[in-house]
Amino acid sequence: MAGAVLIAAFAAFCVCRRSTADTILDVSDRPWEACADCHGLEGVSATAHFPKLAGQKRAYIEKELRDFRSGARANDNGQMSGIADFSDRALELAADYFSRLPAPPSNGGRGKASARARAIVEAGRPGAGIVACRFCHDARADTAPWLEAQHAGYLAKELRDFKSGARTNDQIMSDIARRLSEEDIDQLAAYLEASPRIGAAP
Ligand code: HEC
Ligand code: HEC
Repeated sequence: MAGAVLIAAFAAFCVCRRSTADTILDVSDRPWEACADCHGLEGVSATAHFPKLAGQKRAYIEKELRDFRSGARANDNGQMSGIADFSDRALELAADYFSRLPAPPSNGGRGKASARARAIVEAGRPGAGIVACRFCHDARADTAPWLEAQHAGYLAKELRDFKSGARTNDQIMSDIARRLSEEDIDQLAAYLEASPRIGAAP
């Protein structure tokens, strides 16, 4: 009995110590704050120039940060590769933070009506060597990112960067993007922005 009281008192002490300590943590313990100017503290950026990170898969965010650090991905006009703190700890904390934020809603816009985009996402275009996007981009895959509810302008830029060779950190995506026409890219981007993430953690 006395032991239980003692443990309870100790737990209360720890909680109190912890909240005091939280107020004096420096920014290196909250590396995501350095991301907020561009990506938003809630991970929902205001413009398509910056991708939304909220609810994105943790393993994917981490991989991209490592790729920007190593130079394997360099299609960012220096904005990502110029980040000051790329320590393993900072990038793991930032990836964890953004991946836990609630996923953004889709914009539900007119792009959703594109039968052509829907067919490519769900079934691909086998005759042209285009595998269904859904084959990889779904709730199960760790490193194939969520595309739904992302800014259309960002998705279109990435597909064009894979196609032109400006983004080279995934060979399969480069192969697929080269097989998409300009019209396919515009329709896919609008369709995906307008679609919700099925099976995303709430
Ligand atoms: C000065 C603005 C800026 C800041 C600050 C910034 N980013 Fe970015 N970030 C960008 C831009 C621009 C892109 C898109 C590059 C491109 O066009 O492919 C990007 C892309 C990314 C991506 C790739 C997302 C995807 O869907 O592929 C991740 C992950 C990311 N940023 C994480 C972070 C994190 C974590 C931080 C903070 C440590 C951060 N960014 C800080 C501008 C910024
Ligand atoms: C064989 C698996 C596979 C298929 C099929 C596939 N993708 Fe991907 N895609 C990936 C992976 C893995 C990545 C992440 C690449 C990296 O590591 O940066 C990716 C990245 C992307 C990105 C970049 C997203 C971002 O946040 O930067 C876009 C856009 C994209 N894919 C669109 C598509 C579309 C559209 C299709 C269908 C036409 C498609 N993908 C088919 C595996 C696939």
